Amino acid sequence: MKITGISSIIAFTAIFVYVSVLGLDVWAEDLDRPAPGSIGDTLTKEDARMAYLVYRLLDEKSKIRGANFERGRELFLKNCKACHGDDGRRVNFSKDARNPIFIGTRAANDIPTFWYMMNFGDKKRGMLPYFDEIELKDMIDIAGFAQTLPQ
Ligand code: HEC
Repeated sequence: MKITGISSIIAFTAIFVYVSVLGLDVWAEDLDRPAPGSIGDTLTKEDARMAYLVYRLLDEKSKIRGANFERGRELFLKNCKACHGDDGRRVNFSKDARNPIFIGTRAANDIPTFWYMMNFGDKKRGMLPYFDEIELKDMIDIAGFAQTLPQ
């Protein structure tokens, strides 16, 4: 009887210690997680920016949340029009003239590709990276506006 009492105390103590250590562990992991973009954050800037798009910017219909279309239009005209035209249809990304892919098509149907290209470009194709040139909030407006361009 006495032994059972002691073993249940030991068992309960063990469970208590286990749960509190585990609890602390989860808590510590949360606190230790490096801030996005800080030293120790192991995501590449590419991954972090793509994750930001997927987890923060897109609604359930893959539309950019919180874009200011009027600002987006101004920024698009200022930064993108020279090559892509004012409605994004100067360059056809598909080599097939009967099934063209314009800025508007890409932004509406494949926003990750649009977002990646605007941020990181493609040297071989002649698209510049804008990651260091255009602020995130401006990119959000451009992307939102691009989704309204003709397809
Ligand atoms: C100096 C000229 C130039 C400017 C300015 C420019 N682009 Fe481009 N962009 C290109 C070229 C060239 C390509 C590749 C075209 C091809 O492969 O047919 C391209 C490709 C793209 C693509 C890839 C589309 C796809 O799905 O393959 C996107 C998206 C894009 N540009 C968005 C933008 C946005 C947004 C801006 C403004 C912030 C911008 N571009 C400014 C020249 C430019």
